[in-house]
Amino acid sequence: MLKLSGIIILHFSSQDNKTMIMFIILKYPSWLCYSAIVVWLLQMPNLGCCHKTGGTTNFTCVETERQALLEFKQGLEIGNKSLLSDWNAENMECCTWEGIHCSKHGRVMALDIGRGVISKYTPTTTSMYNFERLRGEIGPSLFDLPFLKSIDLSYNRFHGKIPSFVGSLKRLRYFNLSFNSFSGIVPHQLGNLSALESFDFDGNFNLEVDSLAWISGLSSLNYLSMKGLNLSSTTDWLQSITNLPSLTEVYLQYCMLHPPSADKYGNSTKPLQLQKLDLSMNEFASVTFLSNLVSIKHLDLSFNYLEGEIPELFSTNLTNLLTLNMSENMLSNSSGFLQLGSTSLHELRLDSNKLTGSLPDLSKFPSLRVITVARNEFKDHLDRFLEQGSRLVKLDLSSNAFDGVLQEDNFEYLTKLQVLILSFNSISLNVSTWWIPPFQLAVVKLRNCKVGPGFPNWLRAQSNLIHLDISNSGISKVIPNWFWNISTRLQYVNISHNSIKDKLPNYLPPSYTIVDFSSNQLYGALPSFSSELAVLDFSHNKFSGSISFLCSLKVGTLLYLDLHDNLLSGSLRTCWERVDGLALLNLNNNNFSGHLPYSMGKLRWIMSLSLRNNSLSGELPSSLINCQRLLLLDLGENQLSGVVPTWLGTSLQDLVVLSLHANMFGDIIPRSLCHLHSLQILDLSFNNISGMIPSCLNNFTAMKEMGTSAFVTHLVYGNDPDEYGYSEKYFTTWIAWKGVNHEYINQNHLELLILIDLSNNKLSGPIPQELASLYKLISLNLSRNSLTGIIPNDIGQLEMLESLDMSKNMLSGEIPRSMANLASLSYLDLSSNNLSGKIPSSTQLQSFDASAFNNNSMLCGPPTTNPCQGNRSVHNIPTNDRDRDNGTEAGIFHEDIWFYISIGFGFLVGFWGFCGTLVLNASWRQSYFHVLNNWKDSLCGRFC
Ligand SMILES: *[C@@H]1O[C@H](CO)[C@@H](O)[C@H](O)[C@H]1NC(C)=O
Ligand SMILES: *[C@@H]1O[C@H](CO)[C@@H](O)[C@H](O)[C@H]1NC(C)=O
Ligand SMILES: *[C@@H]1O[C@H](CO)[C@@H](O)[C@H](O)[C@H]1NC(C)=O
Ligand SMILES: *[C@@H]1O[C@H](CO)[C@@H](O)[C@H](O)[C@H]1NC(C)=O
Ligand SMILES: *[C@@H]1O[C@H](CO)[C@@H](O)[C@H](O)[C@H]1NC(C)=O
Repeated sequence: MLKLSGIIILHFSSQDNKTMIMFIILKYPSWLCYSAIVVWLLQMPNLGCCHKTGGTTNFTCVETERQALLEFKQGLEIGNKSLLSDWNAENMECCTWEGIHCSKHGRVMALDIGRGVISKYTPTTTSMYNFERLRGEIGPSLFDLPFLKSIDLSYNRFHGKIPSFVGSLKRLRYFNLSFNSFSGIVPHQLGNLSALESFDFDGNFNLEVDSLAWISGLSSLNYLSMKGLNLSSTTDWLQSITNLPSLTEVYLQYCMLHPPSADKYGNSTKPLQLQKLDLSMNEFASVTFLSNLVSIKHLDLSFNYLEGEIPELFSTNLTNLLTLNMSENMLSNSSGFLQLGSTSLHELRLDSNKLTGSLPDLSKFPSLRVITVARNEFKDHLDRFLEQGSRLVKLDLSSNAFDGVLQEDNFEYLTKLQVLILSFNSISLNVSTWWIPPFQLAVVKLRNCKVGPGFPNWLRAQSNLIHLDISNSGISKVIPNWFWNISTRLQYVNISHNSIKDKLPNYLPPSYTIVDFSSNQLYGALPSFSSELAVLDFSHNKFSGSISFLCSLKVGTLLYLDLHDNLLSGSLRTCWERVDGLALLNLNNNNFSGHLPYSMGKLRWIMSLSLRNNSLSGELPSSLINCQRLLLLDLGENQLSGVVPTWLGTSLQDLVVLSLHANMFGDIIPRSLCHLHSLQILDLSFNNISGMIPSCLNNFTAMKEMGTSAFVTHLVYGNDPDEYGYSEKYFTTWIAWKGVNHEYINQNHLELLILIDLSNNKLSGPIPQELASLYKLISLNLSRNSLTGIIPNDIGQLEMLESLDMSKNMLSGEIPRSMANLASLSYLDLSSNNLSGKIPSSTQLQSFDASAFNNNSMLCGPPTTNPCQGNRSVHNIPTNDRDRDNGTEAGIFHEDIWFYISIGFGFLVGFWGFCGTLVLNASWRQSYFHVLNNWKDSLCGRFC
C-alpha cells in the first residue's frame, strides 16, 4: 500500500544555460503500477531568491539578462577596479551582483548603481571625495532588461544621449539619472513610460528639452526633477506639468525658464494635485502665471529677477501656501504682501533682496514659524517685532541695517525660538550676567554683533546648542569653565576674531566637529580631541609646542587643519596616519623643524599642503608621491635641500600651484615638471637650481589654453558669507607679484592667475622659445640668473603679461620688436643685461622709467636718455636710482577683483563627483547651484 514512493528532483542546465528543474513525482497507488508522472518544468526564479547553493546549476538569474548586464558593464570605464567587480562572466548569479535586484522570477528589476552603491567602496570618512565613478554611455543592452522597474545611475559620469529605446521599459517606476553628463535632446519616447512615478534628471547641464508635451504620457508621475536642464525653448512647461494628474512635486531649478504666455497658464478648472513647485534660479521677472496654482503648498522662487513689490497673489490666490521662498531676487517693496498677510504661511524666506523699511506685522501671519530676511536693508526697531514673536522658531535677520541695543526684555516673548541669527548688524546685546533666556536655542549666530567684552554668560543655560558663532563680537575676557560643558550636542563653534587671551583645557568636548578659534590670542599647548573633528582652525594665535594632539584624534575624520601663524615648533613626525582624510593642511609661519617625515605620504586625500616659512630641512620624502590629489604644494621659505624631485611631475599631476620658493634646492629643473598640465603657478625662485630652463614648458597647458584652467573645475563660487566660510583659505598661497609679496586667497579670477618665477637661481643657457607660447602668463620672472642668448622673438605673444622681469642675467641682442605688443605690461625690468639696440616704440615700453633698462651695454632710444645713431646706441645708459612704483594697484589685482570665494563644505562633500561637467560652461550660477545643493544636503540639515 505504497501511496507515495518518492519525489525525484532533477536539475540540469539546458544548452543555452537556462537552468531548468524537473520535478518528477511518482505515485504508486495500490491498484496501479503508477498513475501519473507529473512534470513541471520550471525556471529557477520560481524557487525564490538567489542564494548560491553548493551546486553549480542553482541560479535564479536569467541568462539573457546576465549577458545584458555584462555587456552593459563592458561599455563602461571603471576607474576603481573594485567597483562592480562581482559583475563578471564567471559569476553566474547576477541577482546577487552589486546594485542588482531581481524579482522572485529572477528578472532584473532594479539597476541601482548610483551614488549609494559606489560609496560603499570608499572609506566612510573619505567618501565625500568619491572620485570613483562609472563612466560610459547607456548601451542598447539595457533593452534586454525589460522587467526593470527602477534605474538609478545617479552621480556617475554617464554621457551621450539618453537612448530612445528607454521609452520601451514599460514597467519603469523609478528613473534617476541625476548628476551625469548626458547630452542631446531628451527623447520624446520617454513619454511612453506610463508607469513612471519618480523621474530625476538633475544636473545634466548639457541635456536639452525642446518641448514638454510628451510628458503628458507620464500619467503615474508624482515626482519630477529637472534641475539644471535647459528648458528655455519650451513654452508649454507649465501647461504640461499642471495637466499631469498625479504630479505632486516638481523641481525646475536653474532651467532658464521664462514665464509662459498668458494662454498657457494651465487650467484653473482642474483640481490640481501639485503641492510643491521649485522654480528657483530661473529668469522670472513676474509670477502672475502662478495665480491658478491654488493647491500649491510649497513654492520656491529664489534666485530669479523679481523686482519691486512682493506680489499680492501670495496673499489673495495662493491661500494654501505653507512655505514661500523669494530669496535672492530684487524685491524692494514689502508693503503690499506684508500688510495683507497670509493666514496659512508657516515659513517665509526673503533673504538677499533690497527690502527696506519695517519687518512684517506678525499679527497678520498668525501661523508663521520661520522668517528669514537676511541681506536686505531693513532698518526697523526690533522691539515691536520681537514682542510679536512668540510663535517664531527660526529668525534670521542677519546682514541688515538693524541697530540699537537689545536687552533682556526684548527676548521675553521668544519662548519657542530655536534659531537666532543676528549676524552682521550693528546690534549690541546688553544683558546681565544673571539673565536666563526664555528660549533654548540650537543655533546662535551673532557674528559681528557686539556681545563682549565679557564672554556671554547667558549661553550657560543653552543646553541644546548645536551651532554657535560669536566670532568677531568684541569678546576679550577669558572663556569661563562652564563653556566646555554647555551642550553635549555642540558641533560648530566659532569664536574666532575676538581678542581672547586664554589657555584651552586639555581636552575639547567630544561633540565638536567644526572648530574655529582663529585670530585670538590663545596660548599654551594645543588641546586634544576625542571627537569626530572635521575642521580645525586655530590659526593666528600664540599656540606653542608640538602637534602631537593629532595622535588623539579619531582616525580619518579631520578634513581641514589650519594652524598657520602660531608659535608651534618641533618635528612634523606625528600621527599622520590618523588624519589620512585631510584635504587641507596649513602650517605656514610657525617654527617647525627637522625633516618632512616619510609618514606624510599617508595624506592620500590632501589637496592643499602649505608649510611655508618654517625651518624644515632635508630632502622631500619620496612618499609624497602618494599625495596624488595635491592641487597646491607650498613649501616656500624653509631650508629644504636636495634635488627638485622628478616625481613632482610624474606623480603629482594635478598640481595647480607649486612653490619651492626660498629653499636650498639644487641640481636642475627636471623635465618631468612639464607633465604638470594643470600648473598655473610655478615658483622655484631663490634656490640653487642650475642648468637650463627645460624647453618643454609649452606643455603647461593651463598656462596657454583658454578653458583649461584647473581652478575652473575645482572651485565653486559660494555666496553665503556667514556660513561655513572656512574653506575660503583653501587655496591660500603667497606669490611674488611685481616685486612685492602678496597673500593670495582663492579669488574669482584665479584662472587668470598664471605665473612663473625662476628668479634668483643659477640657471644658464638660453630662454626657451617655447615660453612665448604660454599665452596666459601674467607674470614672468627670470631675473638674477645667468641666462644667455636673446629674449625670445615671439615674447610679444604673451599679451596678458603684466609683469616681466629678466634683469640681472647675461641676455644679449636687441629687445624683440614684438615686445611693443605687450599692452598690459605694467612692470618691466630688463636692467643689468647685455641688451643692445633701439628700444622698440610703443605706448607701453616708453612709459617705463629708464631704470627698467639700466646697465645694458648698448640700449638706446626713449625712455633712456641715450639717443640712437642709426641702429646703435652711443654710450651706456646711466644708472639711475630705481624709483618706480611697485605697481601693486595696477593690473588685474585691482581691489575690486580680489574677490573672495568661499568654497562651501559642500564642495568637499559632493562636488568632485560632477565637477567634470562644469569644465567649460561653468557660469557662476551653475557653480552656485552645486554648492547650494550639496551644502544644504550635507551640513545645514534642518536649520538652513
Ligand atoms: C536621485 O539620486 C540622487 C543621488 O543619489 C538623490 O539625491 C536623489 O534624491 C534621487 N532622486 C530621487 C527622486 O530619489
Ligand atoms: C513611444 O513614443 C513614440 C513617440 O512619442 C511613439 O512614436 C511610439 O510609437 C511609442 N511607443 C514605443 C513602444 O516606443
Ligand atoms: C482648460 O480646461 C477646459 C475644460 O476642460 C478646456 O476647454 C481648456 O481648453 C483648458 N485650457 C487649457 C489651457 O488647458
Ligand atoms: C608633453 O605632453 C605630451 C602630451 O601630453 C606628452 O606626451 C609629453 O611626454 C610631454 N613632454 C614632457 C617632456 O613632459
Ligand atoms: C568663523 O568666523 C569667521 C568670521 O567671523 C569666518 O571668517 C570663518 O570662516 C568662520 N569659520 C568657520 C569654520 O566657519
